[in-house]
Amino acid sequence: MDLCIIGSGYVGLVSGACFAEVGHTVICVDNDLRKIDMLHRGQIPIYEPGLEELVLRNVAAGRLRFTHSIEDGVDNSQIVFIAVPTPPQADGSVDLTYIERVAREIAGVLKPGQYRVVVDKSTVPVKTGEKVDATIRRYNPTAEFDVVSNPEFLREGCAVPDLMKPDRIVVGSASQRATDLMKRMYEPFQVPILVTDVSSAELIKHAANSFLSLKISYINAVSAICEASGADVEMVADGIGMDRRIGRNFLNAGLGYGGSCFPKDVKAFIAISEELGVPFRLLQEVERINAGQLDVFIKKIKDALWVLRDKRIAVWGLTFKPDTDDVRNSVAIELVNRLVAEGAQVTAYDPKGMEKAVEYKLLPASLKLAHSPLEAAEGAEALLLATEWKEFARQDFAAVKAAMHTPLLFDGRNLLNPKTMRDMGFTYHGVGRP
Ligand code: UDX
Repeated sequence: MDLCIIGSGYVGLVSGACFAEVGHTVICVDNDLRKIDMLHRGQIPIYEPGLEELVLRNVAAGRLRFTHSIEDGVDNSQIVFIAVPTPPQADGSVDLTYIERVAREIAGVLKPGQYRVVVDKSTVPVKTGEKVDATIRRYNPTAEFDVVSNPEFLREGCAVPDLMKPDRIVVGSASQRATDLMKRMYEPFQVPILVTDVSSAELIKHAANSFLSLKISYINAVSAICEASGADVEMVADGIGMDRRIGRNFLNAGLGYGGSCFPKDVKAFIAISEELGVPFRLLQEVERINAGQLDVFIKKIKDALWVLRDKRIAVWGLTFKPDTDDVRNSVAIELVNRLVAEGAQVTAYDPKGMEKAVEYKLLPASLKLAHSPLEAAEGAEALLLATEWKEFARQDFAAVKAAMHTPLLFDGRNLLNPKTMRDMGFTYHGVGRP
């Protein structure tokens, strides 16, 4: 089928490449000319395992191309996906100006007799589909189209496999014609498709992300009880996770959730619930617990070092999770900023995130960046692990210990084995484990 995706960010670009991979012809549209130029040169604006090969292969096969023209995209596609950003506003609600603009732009280029399915893939508040529909009709009363909600559940760092083999595909539609086209489009993926009304599909995305955030805050709250009682949160998580009704995924205690989805989506769901007159107070507690994880971690460091001023501290990890270069809303970035604000001399290392952290000016001026985990540890009075990159677990810890001034280790993601570390001579502090 012929598809067009408006917005070539994480969701748009990965979806475009994967749709092309299963045989569709895809046009990715973006109004950022620099990004389109990069893509024309075969450069991928984001780091995502497997994405580069996928893009290059499908461009070479003639199934994937890039343009800044919405008209080109809409003219040549049966289905038009909207995958533009929906950033948070100061009050937690979602800024829908990009979606509204794209709806007007689509209205402006839809030709008479040209039926199109307009699909909302961005994460949006319930009822946005209705507004997109009304907007296109207002600006182009004779246009023939249906609006469908098709939320995306991919995770950064494993976006390609998540998109190629999702647990489910949700299609919210009020039109049989649109539903049939969507089913045909997703047929090659051979995964269950849940068809719902538009509002339910929109709510599924917020409810799913908020539930996963709740799971993380739940285990983080349990980790505090483990610390107070001497129990081990990893064992507790294994024990409850073996119950198939609960499951072990997303029960990893640590510094809390970050990234561009969970913090924003939980806030938005709270704002949506309040707007609808049914405030979702449980989610406020989820946020409170999440914010508290970093305070508890910093308190532990202070308990050991007393005053942070002039202390040499090494931080491993800057991205909000491993296998990505994304540093937006990263707890690790907040950590280094707070340490530096207290006068600590911080040296950080991250396998993929340092370039973007510098580009986006997220780091304090006095922070030093190292070329390797070992270099970061040089002379440090404490080593903090903030992101669970596998590379960190594979370090030569005898060399790390020898390089450090004092072998104090704070593992904010419970990546390392406490016994092994202690046997090597480290003073090990994890989260919720003795
Ligand atoms: C998330 C959702 O998983 C995905 O379905 C949605 O489409 C977008 O938002 P993403 O933000 O890419 O994906 O990352 P995810 O792997 O879900 O992790 C989010 C945050 O939670 C990270 O900061 C991670 O470190 C943290 N996390 C995750 C935990 O602290 N503990 C866990 O057990 C799992």
